[in-house]
Amino acid sequence: MSTLEEVRASSPVAPIDVERVRADFPLLERSVHGKPLVYLDNAASAQKPRVVLERLQRFYTEINSNVHRGVHALSQAATEAYEGARETVRRFLNAGDVSEIVFVRGATEAINLVASSFGRQHVGAGDEVLITTMEHHSNIVPWQLLCESVGAHLTVVPVTDSGQLDLEAYGNLLTERTKLVALVHVSNTLGTVNPVKGMVALAHERDIPVLLDGAQAVPHMKVDLQELDCDFYALSSHKAFGPMGTGVLYGKHKWLESMPPYQGGGEMILSVQLDKSTFREPPGKFEAGTPSVAAAVGFAAALEYLEGFGGFDGIIAHETSLLARATHGLQQIGGVRLFGTSTCKAAVLSFVTDWAHPHDLGTFLDQEGIAVRTGHHCTQPLMKRFGVPATTRASFAFYNSLEEVDTFVRALEASREFFGA
Ligand code: ALA
Repeated sequence: MSTLEEVRASSPVAPIDVERVRADFPLLERSVHGKPLVYLDNAASAQKPRVVLERLQRFYTEINSNVHRGVHALSQAATEAYEGARETVRRFLNAGDVSEIVFVRGATEAINLVASSFGRQHVGAGDEVLITTMEHHSNIVPWQLLCESVGAHLTVVPVTDSGQLDLEAYGNLLTERTKLVALVHVSNTLGTVNPVKGMVALAHERDIPVLLDGAQAVPHMKVDLQELDCDFYALSSHKAFGPMGTGVLYGKHKWLESMPPYQGGGEMILSVQLDKSTFREPPGKFEAGTPSVAAAVGFAAALEYLEGFGGFDGIIAHETSLLARATHGLQQIGGVRLFGTSTCKAAVLSFVTDWAHPHDLGTFLDQEGIAVRTGHHCTQPLMKRFGVPATTRASFAFYNSLEEVDTFVRALEASREFFGA
């Protein structure tokens, strides 16, 4: 996997042609409040390239029908497209087998699936689930619910002042009672890229399985599941330039095979009798009901689009420049406190200013056509760790330009004047 540091250390990488890339994303052409849109809320949801929109349109105009259910031509074509999308996901993430790719609604459902199914099977009274302070609520609350219902405990790896995991504490918190580590790959609030490969290896030395929340990693870097060797990996399509409403749970076959179903219904069964049912092999066992077929097919188009870059090095090089320029710009203004200053971070800037509440700042920036997220970013424990209720967050994607960074920095400067600081 290419980390930001590896890319920086390697020979210069050909930059991506941002203007050409931007032309692939129709929404980026629009204006907001009479100003050109500067979309810096990519960690919340990314924009979609035209190929994704066209794939959705084609699905609904040419082959729309239910999957795995019909002998008719349309159903077979839809099934082929859906299962083809599963293979695209497998290839993109270098998973070992398509049976390890479960389509779900998004990363949140993927984690809830593991908590409900694997959790109830493997976590009991007195056991521990190890998470970290920088988790998104979707990687905290499902484990709290599990622990409350089975009498287990949640243990938590602390975060340092620079927004990195305390790795010494991590090692000490892995005990014989730990039944699972649930860990974010890239922090949605801080941008920190966690050293997950080593953390997985350390947990495995003690036979502890690891779930990685990859929602913020997949859009920004090569994720090789066989190399990471994690047991579960959760991701959302909409953050990786695909449609909303679908996502993926990757699970090693040995786990998915032995885990009980998460939801019951049509499609996931082999046979149903009134007193008992039997279930399909994974992934079918975990896909009850009609899935978001068009979204899965659209997601495959997004991944194929990313594959068209021939790897992530150009994307990482560009996003590293965006981050460096934005960080420098904010530091020049003064009166800005940044959260997350790890040297290994994705292009995410969370900050507070001396002169305005994050929500007021977000509203000011919106009037300038600049979309950022304000609030706790679904990471309230992390906010508490840093002693703030909210931050303003600018999160970048490869289609953002250096000019947009300058527009953002200029608008921040103007906000200082506007709020009278
Ligand atoms: N998890 C999304 C974010 O960080 C919604 O904004």
